[in-house]
Amino acid sequence: MRERIMTLQLRKACIIGYPVKHSRSPLLHGHWLHEYGLDGAYERAEVAPEDLASFMAGFAGKGYVGGNVTVPHKESIMACLDAVTETAQAMGAVNTLWFEGGRLCGDNTDVVGFLANLDEGAPGWDARTRTVVVLGAGGAAKAVVYGLLQRGMERVAVVNRSFERADALRERFGSRVLAAPWEALPALLGETKLLVNTTSLGMSGQPPLAIDLEPLPSGAVVNDIVYVPLETPLLTAARARGLLAVDGLGMLLHQAVPGFERWFGVRPQVSAALRAHIVADIVRTNP
Ligand code: ATR
Repeated sequence: MRERIMTLQLRKACIIGYPVKHSRSPLLHGHWLHEYGLDGAYERAEVAPEDLASFMAGFAGKGYVGGNVTVPHKESIMACLDAVTETAQAMGAVNTLWFEGGRLCGDNTDVVGFLANLDEGAPGWDARTRTVVVLGAGGAAKAVVYGLLQRGMERVAVVNRSFERADALRERFGSRVLAAPWEALPALLGETKLLVNTTSLGMSGQPPLAIDLEPLPSGAVVNDIVYVPLETPLLTAARARGLLAVDGLGMLLHQAVPGFERWFGVRPQVSAALRAHIVADIVRTNP
């Protein structure tokens, strides 16, 4: 009887952040729950930093089977977990939680999200280049750089306004990472077939990322992880040069797959319908 009651209980996950009202994760997971006809729920949990430890202490008790973690908790949540994956350990940040044998575990799926988006938008990219230029050295850059190194890139040049943050990534990930000042960009672009923007430049409300793409060789790929707007000035400039432009929305969509599968038992597809659903929301909220 008890088992039966358990199976009838709604499987519930949430996004933990502060604030969380702008998160698109509920829309995304809600789409999949509906598409697969699952009796689950995905909620927003707005938790102030000072309340995080107590919220997590009562997490299972609130009926949650797991969830996502966003700003500003991605690092601090690690102290509340029983285990983290090697990737999350390397990142020093967690974005996905689930229970395994009663233990609360954490992973960082931004890495697989970034790689899956590139694989989809620029199939075979990793066979075409051994070096990459990454703009920016914040939290998102950490996942991008780690993913690129995992895919065997020989050199990942990190170019950032504040050189120290680029250098911190070199220290974290080792000698295949080259920290470079902004002035080095033209020369570095001439030697790569993949440019990834992880800065917030080009995001709605921010100045555009104004760089000259001319030095990039023909056949190069430009990936912006900014997805609001979907078509950033950087991607427009890349297309104008005849380069392959990959937008950042797929990273958001693909990073959500492992969590949904762990919580609800179905590996969801990143379909055209899902993408259209999220694009409609982006357009509605950023006309
Ligand atoms: P995220 O977690 O999204 O990566 P972040 O950690 O705040 O966010 O990082 C933002 C990135 O955008 C940083 O690389 C930042 O450069 P600094 O490290 O020098 O701050 C970059 N960035 C933001 N505004 C910028 C600007 N006006 N010019 C150049 N770089 C900018």
